[in-house]
Amino acid sequence: MEKPKFNKKNPLLAKLKHSYVLTKEGSGKDTRHYEISLCGGGLEYLPGDSLAVQATNDPEWADNLIVNLGFDPDAQVPGANKEPKGLRDALTNDYAIGTPSKKFLKAVAEKTGENSALSKILASEDKSQLNDYLWGTWVVDVIAGNPGLDFTPEEFVGLLQKLNVRLYSISSSLAAVPDEVHLTVATVEYESNGYQRGGVCSTWLAHRLEEGTQIPCFITPGKGFRLPEPEEETPIIMCGPGTGIAPFRSFLQHRKATNAKGDAWLFFGEQHEKTEYFYKEEFAAYQADGTLNKLTTAFSRDQREKIYVQHRMLEEGAEFWAWLDKGAIFYVCGDASRMANDVDEALHRIIQDHGGKSSEEAAEYVAQMKTDKRYRRDVY
Ligand SMILES: Cc1cc2nc3c(=O)[nH]c(=O)nc-3n(C[C@H](O)[C@H](O)[C@H](O)COP(=O)(O)OP(=O)(O)OC[C@H]3O[C@@H](n4cnc5c(N)ncnc54)[C@H](O)[C@@H]3O)c2cc1C
Ligand SMILES: NC(=O)c1ccc[n+]([C@@H]2O[C@H](COP(=O)([O-])OP(=O)(O)OC[C@H]3O[C@@H](n4cnc5c(N)ncnc54)[C@H](OP(=O)(O)O)[C@@H]3O)[C@@H](O)[C@H]2O)c1
Repeated sequence: MEKPKFNKKNPLLAKLKHSYVLTKEGSGKDTRHYEISLCGGGLEYLPGDSLAVQATNDPEWADNLIVNLGFDPDAQVPGANKEPKGLRDALTNDYAIGTPSKKFLKAVAEKTGENSALSKILASEDKSQLNDYLWGTWVVDVIAGNPGLDFTPEEFVGLLQKLNVRLYSISSSLAAVPDEVHLTVATVEYESNGYQRGGVCSTWLAHRLEEGTQIPCFITPGKGFRLPEPEEETPIIMCGPGTGIAPFRSFLQHRKATNAKGDAWLFFGEQHEKTEYFYKEEFAAYQADGTLNKLTTAFSRDQREKIYVQHRMLEEGAEFWAWLDKGAIFYVCGDASRMANDVDEALHRIIQDHGGKSSEEAAEYVAQMKTDKRYRRDVY
């Protein structure tokens, strides 16, 4: 019989089995480990894949928005699939009510006139103005900031985006934990416009999911973010600061379960060793049983100057080059905005300093690594 296929329209309804907070008391972060049961539904994944999770909004956010709009919570509106439903239900389950859509902003700007602050931001050539405005701004802030907007409930929901899935790099292997998928998620929480706010999916997972709550989900394949076959001798180097550690926990689980041959080196970075050293005991056990040959950590705030994973790579440059020279695959996962570029720079530097290459030759070497699929990135 063919295996069931899961997607956005037909997600698997998985269930939370167990979760715990990875960050310790005193940490400024809240990063959690989730163990989700696949409930015998036949969902399959490989190390390097991501799980797409469909969360819902906090009903309190929907209520606050309805109050600000002055609407009847039971007013009938089209849901995301056009079926009629109550406004409160639609704003909780179907539509994005955090960051406003362009369509919504344009409709508000039309109503407020070309001299309004919002119209000026939208008309500006400088796109950073809009991005700065949107950072931390929610639909309710736009409503509250522009009194007298005369939308009907139906018109209003027609201007919102559908509530989208969020992707999470899977941090387990089916070879080690059959019928389970694990995630490593940083809870997004911040203050803006006088409210304590949070990310839709990470706060749903952290605060509103009970053991047994259904988690609609499906797999997004990790294009090319794949391990060598277990019998291959190819060494691997993994660099995963913060939640970027997720796929490498999966890799290590898988390599142990499949008795993988090649050597493995892990770089992990976080703020403090005491409070954010995720999976410390697991990694120590992998080192002890030979699954992990080398572990290098960078705790950025345990000393006066910042120490990041790329600084450790440079310190270990000679050995890093020796691994590359033996054909190692280099995997990077985590922050795309700064870390991935800095790590890329360090890679070029190592190839120059220890491989005896010019900067042009180092760039060619890295380009060849990419062609040979020896440099693989999963950054967000
Ligand atoms: C391939 C891939 C893999 C990923 N893997 C992981 C993973 O393993 N673990 C993980 O934790 N995440 C991962 N992510 C990120 C994840 O998909 C979500 O983007 C993240 O969890 C936030 O989603 P959310 O719904 O909680 O927040 P959202 O509702 O999407 O809110 C985010 C928005 O909140 C606002 N915001 C955030 N912080 C602030 C602030 N300080 N001040 C003001 N406004 C702010 C911004 O407008 C921001 O755009 C991955 C992403 C991709 C694409
Ligand atoms: N889309 C979202 O809303 C969302 C949700 C969750 C995470 N993220 C993003 O995903 C990434 C991962 O977040 P995270 O909490 O897991 O960890 P993180 O913020 O990436 O931090 C992990 C470690 O990386 C360090 N770091 C900071 N800048 C660096 C750089 N240029 N090079 C190397 N290391 C650097 C941090 O140090 P310091 O902190 O001391 O500088 C910390 O020690 C971040 O960019 C985060 O903003 C986004």
